[in-house]
Amino acid sequence: MERTTLVQHIRQQEKSNPGATGEFTSLMTEIMVASKIISLEVNSAGIGENILGLTGKINVQGEEVQKLDEFSDITFTTIVGKSETVCAIASEEKEDPYIVPQEDNPGKYIFMMDPLDGSSNIDVNVNIGTIFSIYKKKSEGNEVTDEDLLQRGDEQIAAGYIVYGSSTIFVYTSGNGVYGFTLDPSLGEFFLSHPDLRIPGQGSIYSANEGNWGIWDENQKNLVSNLKEDNPSSGRPYKLRYIGSLVADFHRTLLKGGIFMYPKDKNSPEGKLRFSFEAAPLAFIAENAGGKASTGSERILDIAPKGIHDRLPLFIGSKKDVEMAETHLAAEKGKKGGWFKWLSG
Ligand code: AHG
Ligand code: MN
Ligand code: MN
Repeated sequence: MERTTLVQHIRQQEKSNPGATGEFTSLMTEIMVASKIISLEVNSAGIGENILGLTGKINVQGEEVQKLDEFSDITFTTIVGKSETVCAIASEEKEDPYIVPQEDNPGKYIFMMDPLDGSSNIDVNVNIGTIFSIYKKKSEGNEVTDEDLLQRGDEQIAAGYIVYGSSTIFVYTSGNGVYGFTLDPSLGEFFLSHPDLRIPGQGSIYSANEGNWGIWDENQKNLVSNLKEDNPSSGRPYKLRYIGSLVADFHRTLLKGGIFMYPKDKNSPEGKLRFSFEAAPLAFIAENAGGKASTGSERILDIAPKGIHDRLPLFIGSKKDVEMAETHLAAEKGKKGGWFKWLSG
């Protein structure tokens, strides 16, 4: 059986881009190598050298750093940092971006990552992952500036994620379709398993931390109440699935459709998820798969962040489901009827 490897696929994609130099293929190859190292570590967590548990440190987000968070951050930074393809690496785990020193031959790309997404699921054998995003350096000269680090979401060159789950899967887009590759653990090689992924136009699953109900605003509550109503002719009630690892919740949404939401709430008035490391890369993937990603009122990819650690609300998934959410959230405060407007619109 003829199988396409991830590197073959990346090379083919790069070839279709006039002026390509091979630098993008090199960068993606290094990302793939780092992801294999983390996959191996995740698969054997609990045996040998203990990688489970906390480091005792608190990161820039004010969150406890797990050993695997730190291990993934160091692995990606070391490998991608030496690839001679990037000039800066920004990570959810670090306050300031790592600027590649001149002696390491910096390249033209900016690499952004959430090295380990779903930290709360590390110790309990539930899916976790890595999310990444690639931009091109825009400013002239050697210095890396805000113009490079705070680009609009739709200026991404590529984005992807890896889920370390029942199998390890690598999903990416370079703006020309979304492709998934499954790791064959016996060969240590990723093979194309999901060619040209498309999000269904509408799904039947919603995904949210409903434990936050009491700190949601009225429109958010109405939105979820509507999804739970018994109305078979419009496909409701929707099912609820919430893993608590964005990357895994998104992966299911990409394959099965529906909507993932992390709205703003009383405790996180800006929202919880991070633009550069979580929302923007997944939005780029969602749109490339025919889906939609919104803050509830604005397209995620239209946003340029003010800082690399900016947070925002996220509604992402099937086009129709995200549009339905936007309609509810735009409703006059506390009034029902968003669903009706959406159905008749
Ligand atoms: P991270 O592990 O990178 O800090 O991200 C955690 C995020 C995301 O993966 C998930 O969707 C969300 O936090 C879960 O938050 P709650 O525990 O508040 O539901
Ligand atoms: Mn995360
Ligand atoms: Mn993380």
